[in-house]
Amino acid sequence: MKCKSLWKIVLITLCLILHSHRSTTFASALAGAPQYDGYQLWLKYSRVDDAEKLDEYQSVISAVIVNGQSQTCGIIRDELKAGLCGLLDKDIPFIESIDKSNCLVVGTPGDCDIIKELGDSLPLDTLGREGFVIKSVQIDGKQAIVVAANEDIGLLYGTFNFLWLIQTRQPLDDLNIISKPRIQHRLVNHWDNLNGSVERGYAGRSLWKWDELPDKVDSRYRDYARANASVGINGTVLNNVNANPDILKPEYLKKVAALADVFRPYGIRVYLSVNFSSPISAKFKLESSRRGGIGDLKTSDPLDLQVRQWWKDKAAEIYELIPDFGGFLVKANSEGMPGPQDYDRTHADGANMLAEALQPYGGIVMWRAFVYVPQTDPDRAKRAYKEFVPLDGKFHQNVFVQSKNGPIDFQPREPVAPIFGAMPKTPLMLELQITQEYLGHSKHLVYLGPMWKEYLEFDTHADGPGSTLAKIIDGSLQGYKMTGIAGVTNIGDDRNWCGHLFAQANWYAFGRLSWDHSLGAEQIADEWVRATLTNDADAVNTIKSMMLGSWQGCVNYMTPLGLHHIMQEGFHYGPGPQYDKAPRADWNSVYYHRADADGLGFDRSCTGSNAVSQYFPAVCEVFNDVNTCPEKYLLWFHHVPWDRKMDSGRTLWEELCYNYNSGVKYVDKMINDWQSVEKYIEPQLFAHVSEKLQTQKKDAGIWRDTCIGYFQKFSKKSVSESN
Ligand code: GCU
Repeated sequence: MKCKSLWKIVLITLCLILHSHRSTTFASALAGAPQYDGYQLWLKYSRVDDAEKLDEYQSVISAVIVNGQSQTCGIIRDELKAGLCGLLDKDIPFIESIDKSNCLVVGTPGDCDIIKELGDSLPLDTLGREGFVIKSVQIDGKQAIVVAANEDIGLLYGTFNFLWLIQTRQPLDDLNIISKPRIQHRLVNHWDNLNGSVERGYAGRSLWKWDELPDKVDSRYRDYARANASVGINGTVLNNVNANPDILKPEYLKKVAALADVFRPYGIRVYLSVNFSSPISAKFKLESSRRGGIGDLKTSDPLDLQVRQWWKDKAAEIYELIPDFGGFLVKANSEGMPGPQDYDRTHADGANMLAEALQPYGGIVMWRAFVYVPQTDPDRAKRAYKEFVPLDGKFHQNVFVQSKNGPIDFQPREPVAPIFGAMPKTPLMLELQITQEYLGHSKHLVYLGPMWKEYLEFDTHADGPGSTLAKIIDGSLQGYKMTGIAGVTNIGDDRNWCGHLFAQANWYAFGRLSWDHSLGAEQIADEWVRATLTNDADAVNTIKSMMLGSWQGCVNYMTPLGLHHIMQEGFHYGPGPQYDKAPRADWNSVYYHRADADGLGFDRSCTGSNAVSQYFPAVCEVFNDVNTCPEKYLLWFHHVPWDRKMDSGRTLWEELCYNYNSGVKYVDKMINDWQSVEKYIEPQLFAHVSEKLQTQKKDAGIWRDTCIGYFQKFSKKSVSESN
């Protein structure tokens, strides 16, 4: 094996010298790690073990040409070196011009004559700056594969895609892949605090070592950027939406700039969550604000000229340091955070002030719609819609309103938030949660691809049938000028990044769906399993089947049939259906499930809270009628008698017990499935997942027993043995 030669030995030695988990890079992990331990994510590039396939790939790629001189092209060369060497177990030479058949040519028309000469045969005109083509071509009678794009970042995405073809054992003959993102802004949102803790983070502490930056730049930042770029993510909000104003102090901005420098060649822009009270002096701590600001003003009223100037000056300061800074994410007048309503101004007033400050530099504002002040409506599910829809058309062009997928809060299952489709004049950015706040943290195996697909494919009927959420957020339905999607990330400083190995699949799936929401959850799972775990066909199918049913399994043992927010108060981990001690009604579990002697569920029909009326008529009609409301949302929209006959013929009570039990059984199935693939999995990873599955089994049982036991007090029925 030629590539186990000198450079590899040097890397191993270096790795040993550095010998620290935190500073071990992908390259060193590839070269030195005796065992795959999860750090390498889906970029493992392990040798193609099928001899025939290996032979085929080796013969199709005999040399590589990447002539571009940018930093991004340097990254592409490194990636191809590591990837091809690992996968093909062969040292593939880098050359400058085609002198033989079977070259891989990576270039833009600007830096590569070969690509330029291929002219119109490559549809680059339609691909924008991030799209790419991977195509089998003949050049001067020689067979070649080209990865072409208009800009280097497109080449990087194309390179990852090309390596992925080999990772997942696709044929390399007659390639003609044309790909471009359907959504423009594809962001991960970190809820990382400046003290290193992570809100709703379950994978260790924050990746960002604020105390070390900007002087010391951890090599892990580069690996982070690389992983994000490999799935097409092009932006990162570094800090918690419950923002500490200090992030805008000059010393922090220098640290942010150091991170931006690392991320830039990977096509990733940095964004910051900002605290609306930032311009206020720390001395003038507002009642509603968690802290004073960092400025010297007495107010942060968005219509105050001094306040507006403060933000303009701050924007100028930021762009001086970070010319491609992405913009601000804002949580305002929500859960105690300050906002424009503190001054009787609207969300639009607040967002527009920031938009004006960022606009000269091309920055954007992502203004969150996660608001639920009780005064707006007794039903929490209705509040964001009621506050934001009347503001449609009042936001500046560089403002997104960013809404969570559902109307409450990242529950195991929610119906789509009705705001989607209802603000045609305001680009809505979809906020998903990758971190499993309400889905078993990093202890439960829950693959979120199917959940996100359920949302994306939900038909809002905003413009007649076919008005899916996906078409709203990608701008194709309502003509949004900007499009965006955000995922609250599950990344921390744990060695394996996400706590649970399978939680990596959710990071992966988020990236893949934000690039192309038409991809199926199964295809994404297939890619991830092959790149991360094994290419054995049977094992792939077994693992995929575990993953594909895992979300429904979790919904069943936590909140079946439309139940929601009955978690342990604060932690959102175990069950807490009995909880009724919170100072606010809508922080109690009993507010959400409304169990009583008659039945179970929150009546949001037109005779209840009338939340159904916020949906477009065709959807409203279906949800409003207890006979047509899909059972998966039944208790979300209706208070249902315990004896009501369900589709299965069981009563509601029996169905509830049945669902809780089937959720627990699903975990047993996963345990069996996992055991059956043991021989294909690295021992360390196998043990890690096995242990987590045991915890999940225990937890699922606790959920079932607690919830059934609690609801039984109201139903007064025996626990069904029929399942
Ligand atoms: C949830 C979560 C909080 C978070 C909030 C938000 O309520 O529990 O930790 O701050 O969502 O999205 O702002």
